[in-house]
Amino acid sequence: MNFKNLLAQTKRNYATIVLILLFVAIAGFIIQLVAQVTRFSKGVTDFYAPTIHDVKSFAEAANHLQMGIENYGIPDEMSVVQLQETTKRLEALSRLWEPDYRKHIESMIAAAKRLVADLKEMKTSEQKLLIETRHLNEEAQMHVRMHDAELKEARTVIQSSAWKIQIVVLVLLVIGIIISFREVQIQRLREQEKEKLSAITALATALEARDPYTQGHSLRVAEYTRIIGVEMDMGKMELEHLNLASLMHDVGKIAVPDSILRKEDKLTDQEWQQIKEHPQASARILEGFESLKEMAQWALDHHERFDGKGYPNGKSGMDIPLPAQIMAIADSFDAMTSNRPYRPGMTLEQAIIEIEKNKGKQWRTDVAEAFLRCVQKGLIKIST
Ligand SMILES: [Fe+2]
Repeated sequence: MNFKNLLAQTKRNYATIVLILLFVAIAGFIIQLVAQVTRFSKGVTDFYAPTIHDVKSFAEAANHLQMGIENYGIPDEMSVVQLQETTKRLEALSRLWEPDYRKHIESMIAAAKRLVADLKEMKTSEQKLLIETRHLNEEAQMHVRMHDAELKEARTVIQSSAWKIQIVVLVLLVIGIIISFREVQIQRLREQEKEKLSAITALATALEARDPYTQGHSLRVAEYTRIIGVEMDMGKMELEHLNLASLMHDVGKIAVPDSILRKEDKLTDQEWQQIKEHPQASARILEGFESLKEMAQWALDHHERFDGKGYPNGKSGMDIPLPAQIMAIADSFDAMTSNRPYRPGMTLEQAIIEIEKNKGKQWRTDVAEAFLRCVQKGLIKIST
């Protein structure tokens, strides 16, 4: 798995967490919105419905009274009864109202009671009755208009809240689908990565089994690169990639025939040339895996030298990726200190001298110094 892919996967995980948090926040918002709408609708049902009905009935009675007095000089009996009844009902409802509104409508109720009393006593002049009735009718109509406007506003609020809920639920649904889809994708990617890594590790292990003299080489190189990487303050993820690349850097030797790989005598120029092609072969194998492409580059460059005298491309200086230089020094150290059929391995002291001598030539100075610090601290020793 290369660095970019792991980084991308981490970002994907963060994105999933953000989506889940968003999902929870939206769900909370919906619950709050539904509670608000329920409360509001209950208020409308409990208060507006009976109040509007009775205020309209009250206004209707007042209007009929006014028309009766205007047209015939006497009030309509039915309208008087209706006014009395609706006045009683409004009085009963008054406990539900806000104090300001209650004060307002209570004055209208008082006016209605005065009018009914005047009508019954028949002492008041027709002119005064007409003024009282008109006044009551106007006030009642004003209340009807006010309630109609409030009801319209309430309907608008409920409708817009219903729209909001629908939109939010839809967004929630989409987020849920995205989260599930991403999770499935991430899971699939993880499984693919796991399979690839076990396949490639098995390949590297099989390769080392062919050559008794290099057995354990990749594991040792991986351990040295981890120690140097820590010394050079590499991040956890970068160290993981370095470890994988180190385990697989020589996997291309699978293409080198046994007769050359296991040859105990000195290699001919042609055989040596074949061996020198293994970085490209390693890179080709790793490039076949999308997630290992960056590591393929490191494997390709693990025999490059800082002074440009390495192979296969003669890269130099900072053109060589840092992980490739770390792998190069770890690889060389293991090669120097391992026994070969044609020579014994160097001692730690001899290897240190060799590294000091080639610092800034074969390897980047900072990498070589980090390596030497690790040796000084006793972190890197010759494996037995
Ligand atoms: Fe190599």
